[in-house]
Amino acid sequence: MVPLSLTVNGKPIEVEVEARTLMVDLLRNTLGLTGTHIGCDTSQCGACVVHVNGRTIKSCSVLAVACDGEEITTIEGLACDDGRLHPMQQAFADCHGLQCGYCTPGMIMTAVAIADEEDLLEPARLREELHGNLCRCTGYQNIVKAVIAGADAMKRSG
Ligand code: FES
Ligand code: FES
Repeated sequence: MVPLSLTVNGKPIEVEVEARTLMVDLLRNTLGLTGTHIGCDTSQCGACVVHVNGRTIKSCSVLAVACDGEEITTIEGLACDDGRLHPMQQAFADCHGLQCGYCTPGMIMTAVAIADEEDLLEPARLREELHGNLCRCTGYQNIVKAVIAGADAMKRSG
């Protein structure tokens, strides 16, 4: 077993993991953060996207030990402590940017990471940027609307 120190959603975590443990399994099975989904296990779908030091990773493709000492944010870490949704979560709700919701945590984590990149928010460009996050339900139209609205709300909320 390998000792590991991480900050997850602002909380310091000390755990021991097998060297082969994937980050998504540490989050879901050990830490109980089941908002991070597994849709494929082959790096295709993006349901498992989380942030490491503010940058997106597909957590099904990264060993937990590779994140020793890093700051991890999952979908559970976005909302305010008082329960208010993060502006990007609220935008997905307001714009109906989800149907079954399976892709949504990963989609939102990707959206938050690109929200301050003005040039990526033009709809055609945004669709390209979301190519690593697959949605089987929505046809992406409302997801694109939600990401643009969420990015705007993030800007306004500072
Ligand atoms: S579960 Fe990680 S990309 Fe699909
Ligand atoms: S809302 Fe169902 S997969 Fe995206």
